Amino acid sequence: MHSNSKTDKRVAIVTGAASGIARATAERFAKEGIIPVIVDMNIEEGQKVADALGSMAIKVDITSYEECCAAAKKVFETYGRIDILVNCVGGHSGRILNMQGNFADVPISRIEFGIKMNLMGTLYMTHAVIRHMIDAHYGKIINLGSVAGVVGAKGGTDYSTSKGGIFSFTKSLAMEVAKEGINVCCVSPGPVLTRPAMAQMKTYFGRVGKPEEIASLINYLCSDEAAFITGHNYVIDGGRCFGGLGATN
Ligand SMILES: NC(=O)c1ccc[n+]([C@@H]2O[C@H](COP(=O)([O-])OP(=O)(O)OC[C@H]3O[C@@H](n4cnc5c(N)ncnc54)[C@H](O)[C@@H]3O)[C@@H](O)[C@H]2O)c1
Repeated sequence: MHSNSKTDKRVAIVTGAASGIARATAERFAKEGIIPVIVDMNIEEGQKVADALGSMAIKVDITSYEECCAAAKKVFETYGRIDILVNCVGGHSGRILNMQGNFADVPISRIEFGIKMNLMGTLYMTHAVIRHMIDAHYGKIINLGSVAGVVGAKGGTDYSTSKGGIFSFTKSLAMEVAKEGINVCCVSPGPVLTRPAMAQMKTYFGRVGKPEEIASLINYLCSDEAAFITGHNYVIDGGRCFGGLGATN
């Protein structure tokens, strides 16, 4: 296993780790003795995170398969191993593009943007990395879903479609690679305090989630204590999916 390895530590690619849940995951990994490689298109912030954690940042636009492949190659050349991939880049296209609206009312370009970043980005980076894991007979892949992928999201059709697709991808890939020693899981948060507006969202705990709480679940699923878990979706949402709180997305 890992005959080309240049480090005894496990190496993780964490996409979107310049910010939010992915950043908290990279910080948690560093505490656990895992090298977290920061992959983000915001290289200025990404480099700051990497410098603080003593690791490496790579500028990648996740919607480019070529850039995903180049990043995976660079990580493998540097460390000789890629043990963990956390696919965390994602977000609601209506918010990011300031183009809110229902499916019928928004241009198809918004829908394409959302699907490409959320769904195709996850598939691109996984495809770029998976062969290294198969060769090593070891790997942990965590894909970020959302409660929007479970209960839907009015005004977020491309987002919920992507997140539902990410869970289906997780199941199918898990079946394909279990015998290669690779676990694939999906983590689907409810509202998490990654930006101030999230604090208004309702859950049964009367608060939103902390990025560190999502990072803790991701870290557990990447640990060898979770070796018998694969293909499942872990909702972490303060009970929001059960409804009864008003809007569910
Ligand atoms: N925050 C929440 O409440 C919440 C809830 C449910 C699901 N999620 C999911 O969790 C994940 C992380 O969410 P967050 O709120 O922590 O994210 P965030 O908005 O804080 O960070 C997203 C990161 O992705 C990077 N990024 C955006 N587009 C990119 C691209 N094309 N290529 C490379 N990098 C790109 C950004 O620079 C940023 O650093 C997402 O997949 C999101 O859908 C978040």
